[in-house]
Amino acid sequence: MADIIDIVMQEHREVEALFDQLKAATGADQQQPLFTEVKDKLERHASAEERVLYPRIRKEVPDGKEEAEDAVEEHDQMRSSIEEVEEHEAGTELFMLAVEQLVATTRHHVGVEEQELLPDFREHSEAEERQALAERFEQAKRRGNGSGGSPEGDGATKQELYDRAREAGIVGRSSMSRKELLAALDKQS
Ligand SMILES: [Fe+2]
Ligand SMILES: [Fe+2]
Repeated sequence: MADIIDIVMQEHREVEALFDQLKAATGADQQQPLFTEVKDKLERHASAEERVLYPRIRKEVPDGKEEAEDAVEEHDQMRSSIEEVEEHEAGTELFMLAVEQLVATTRHHVGVEEQELLPDFREHSEAEERQALAERFEQAKRRGNGSGGSPEGDGATKQELYDRAREAGIVGRSSMSRKELLAALDKQS
């Protein structure tokens, strides 16, 4: 049976392979669909980690609270980098520069996860638990970033709040904390 750590690492490799293809792609016709694919994969991956994996790290790993908080910050940097790419037309130099920034941001975060978070979690969890989490991780990914499921912990995940802010057109959302997103959304309604 699958283990959530193996699934997370496998997806990191898939994202890296997509990044390699994207960097080698020429012209908007090749670049745009690859970017859309990697963006969707990254967003689902990060959101599923925030719902299923990080709450366990917070609870079970000593210093896990800080580790998970930093990791969510890094996800937000990735989300900002994705937005930055979307501000440019595929096929342009600025688009590829923004892609390179996204690759660097993601590479850093993947390194932290694979060298710190995942080994720490492995040390402080049982194989059985990680197998059960693997299933929940897949479910969370299928659900994507939208609503329709209650995340572990209190209320909406940061990703959900961020998505609502994007739909509402809230300016400056990518640099907002979860609390600020809640406040901004509250003001809107
Ligand atoms: Fe990850
Ligand atoms: Fe992550």
